[in-house]
Amino acid sequence: MDRILIRGGNRLQGRIFISGAKNAALTLMPCALLTDEPLTLRNLPRLADVDSFGHLLNQLGASTAIEGSRPEDFGRVMTIRAGRLTSTEAPYDIVRKMRASILVLGPLIGRAGEATVSLPGGCAIGNRPIDLHLKAMEAMGAEIELAAGYVKAVAPGGRLPGGRVSFPVVSVGATENALMAAVTARGGTVIENAAREPEIVDLCNCLVAMGASISGIGTETLEIEGRDRLHGATYAVMPDRIEAGSYACAAAITGGSVELAGAEANDMRATIAALVEAGVSVEEGKGSIKVSADGPLRPITLSTAPFPGFATDMQAQFMAMLCKADGASVLTETIFENRYMHVPELARMGADITVTGRSAVVRGVAGLVGAQVMATDLRASMSLIIAGLAAEGETQVSRVYHLDRGYERLEEKLSAVGADIERIGDG
Ligand code: EPZ
Repeated sequence: MDRILIRGGNRLQGRIFISGAKNAALTLMPCALLTDEPLTLRNLPRLADVDSFGHLLNQLGASTAIEGSRPEDFGRVMTIRAGRLTSTEAPYDIVRKMRASILVLGPLIGRAGEATVSLPGGCAIGNRPIDLHLKAMEAMGAEIELAAGYVKAVAPGGRLPGGRVSFPVVSVGATENALMAAVTARGGTVIENAAREPEIVDLCNCLVAMGASISGIGTETLEIEGRDRLHGATYAVMPDRIEAGSYACAAAITGGSVELAGAEANDMRATIAALVEAGVSVEEGKGSIKVSADGPLRPITLSTAPFPGFATDMQAQFMAMLCKADGASVLTETIFENRYMHVPELARMGADITVTGRSAVVRGVAGLVGAQVMATDLRASMSLIIAGLAAEGETQVSRVYHLDRGYERLEEKLSAVGADIERIGDG
């Protein structure tokens, strides 16, 4: 398993190109299942999860051709052709490795009138059930049965009637599955308390480009008129707001100044507000954001929430940055029940963090010390990288396969702005 070695202390200076968003790519790719025409996605990030999703689509009978991308280009072009499905089953061995595989549920029902998907099981940050996904399918008329660790969903007569989906709590994935099942339903569907993340807007825009009828895009109430069929399209994946926010924290903790090329400030209002409150300067340019920190970082109080609130996917990265603030910060994680796996690892680097229930008090320390640490989940691993960039001495992060799921060419992007970082392959 690869490890990443960082010798901390360098101020990051320069430009980082932001890749296409992982969490948009993983919901745009299954859209191809909804039509027998090709869907071409541009600005697709080179990530392990994108590759895994491609393999899942292949198992269902879709082809995934990567086109015309030079090695030095960020972002790939992939054309997905699901002219004829050969399976409607997402097997356990794929779903257990990547829970986003559940996002084939809605499009398979929308295209083939049925889907059999392995229950994803939990992951490091929580047990992450899919009850809301299943309730949404039932609300649109699907018959659901659970057996032997799989869920089978069937649209009576081969096509969902549609209906009213009212989510008791906001769920990004369940909103995505509901949208992808509703766009080809026989009738109309209303989704209430829908997630409003920018990735949901990207999904809606892609579905509309494919001929879907969706109103209320970007709000918590979505109205969909089912279409008999959707057509192919070419669509560019939105920039990754979490990758951009992660590199902003890296620039800030090192007292550097980094331009995040391609970042979309409107997707990151809560992150930007928190950075500014922490004493970081943020300048919004045309198609980029410049983040600089020349003074001390200030402690802040943060609570994660669904969009437009502060993203749970940014919590670990802010925690790392705030380890160097002048005072005590309080972070509260309201979305997942176990998203503090990075705390003991940061403590090994000299951080002073106390977790009580859902909240963590981060007392700033004068300096962090490099150590051997272990990545446990995607965003936790990024928090260790961020801490390592500012730590004195050498930090070695193991199990970096977690990182490769969500950060394209991390060492390359950080080296380009002055970080002393390298990957050691263990074969
Ligand atoms: C998406 O996960 C993202 N993943 C996550 O990013 C992100 O943290 C999360 O949304 C919240 O923003 C992708 O888009 C691939 P949820 P998702 O359904 O859809 C509970 C990353 O680091 N819930 O909005 O799984 C759930 O347990 C990843 O990039 C149910 O109870 O998140 C959680 O507590 C991590 N029942 C809360 O809702 C359900 O059926 C929010 O989950 C579904 C969810």
